[in-house]
Amino acid sequence: MKTPIPRPGIDKIAAYVPGASQAPGAPRVFKLSSNESPLGASPAAIQALSAAVTSLQLYPDGASTALRQALADRHGLEAERILCGCGSNEIIGLVAQAYLDSGDEAVIPRYGFSEFEIVTRANGGVPVMAAETDFTADVDAMLAAVTPRTRIVFLANPNNPTGTFLPAAEIRRLHAGLPPHVILLLDEAYAEYAGNPWESGLALARAAQNVVVTRTFSKIFGLASLRVGWGYFPVAMAEAINRIRFPFNVSSVAQAAAKAAMEDEVFLQAARDHNDRWRPWLEREFTALGLRVTPSACNFLLVHLPEGKSAAEAYNALLIQGVIVRPLSAYGLPKALRISVGSEEGNRTLIRSFATFMKRPAVGGNIS
Ligand SMILES: Cc1ncc(COP(=O)(O)O)c(C=O)c1O
Repeated sequence: MKTPIPRPGIDKIAAYVPGASQAPGAPRVFKLSSNESPLGASPAAIQALSAAVTSLQLYPDGASTALRQALADRHGLEAERILCGCGSNEIIGLVAQAYLDSGDEAVIPRYGFSEFEIVTRANGGVPVMAAETDFTADVDAMLAAVTPRTRIVFLANPNNPTGTFLPAAEIRRLHAGLPPHVILLLDEAYAEYAGNPWESGLALARAAQNVVVTRTFSKIFGLASLRVGWGYFPVAMAEAINRIRFPFNVSSVAQAAAKAAMEDEVFLQAARDHNDRWRPWLEREFTALGLRVTPSACNFLLVHLPEGKSAAEAYNALLIQGVIVRPLSAYGLPKALRISVGSEEGNRTLIRSFATFMKRPAVGGNIS
């Protein structure tokens, strides 16, 4: 009997696995599996959301006009080149939908954010993975992977799950090596955490005809559940994406909260300060426990288990203590865990639990 068949490529997609959120039996749960903000959302954002709740019967402004203007003012950009989306995920998906035809290729760093492969395959495209060096995207490898079928080069800068980034000169070199019809999509979900010497690609995008930058309110702004992100496009690309974007893709409460969150400089700085304090602390503590940590510009760390220690066992040992981290087998990193920077209590519980795990006899060691 004939049954409906999805377009070719969809059967090859490994569905996105979100970070776990349950730790059954644990007295307190510290969710360090999805790079969410331990500080929550700005009180100003919550207030703006509450005020917008009185108009839930009305469709939102489909163009997110006030939010786009505020973003443009804040970053020195043109509002007509900004589009808001249901998370930056939607923006990334729309670019693939609008610009990939069946069999077209997208170049993605080997450990690049997994959504890039999903949106490529979902639109009939072929992901071409480019080798990395020390868990960092490699411009030469990416340029070598470009063929006449390439339409998009995806790069999260800094990247999830590695936390690494490419300096501005390397981004410019990558862009300079691409044919003008190939889109360079720079996903800057962790921009606000990165700081010096990382630099945004927004200036490059402003001057180029083929560069897109995406940002999100899900990370440092603590609004992951509201689903708001945005992209900065060349004019012609913004017009094309606007033709296929669902008309009311960002709710009114989300637009109001995002604008207020962006304008709350004090809260933003507090979130940055928290990360600047605790990320190095975690890095030091993990190193002292004999774990290797990939240098991170984000609000999480890529932690590598030593010989004889299993990441799966570490995951389970932490879970029992209520600490949820992210296994990375799906990325081909079975010996690593991705761990978000949490609250002070979460971070201390994490390190205490990890220390207990590290003292256990090694896998395959003598257990008498
Ligand atoms: C690199 C990267 N890009 C994009 C996203 C998606 O964020 P959003 O919540 O805006 O869809 C994430 C979320 O984890 C991410 O890590």
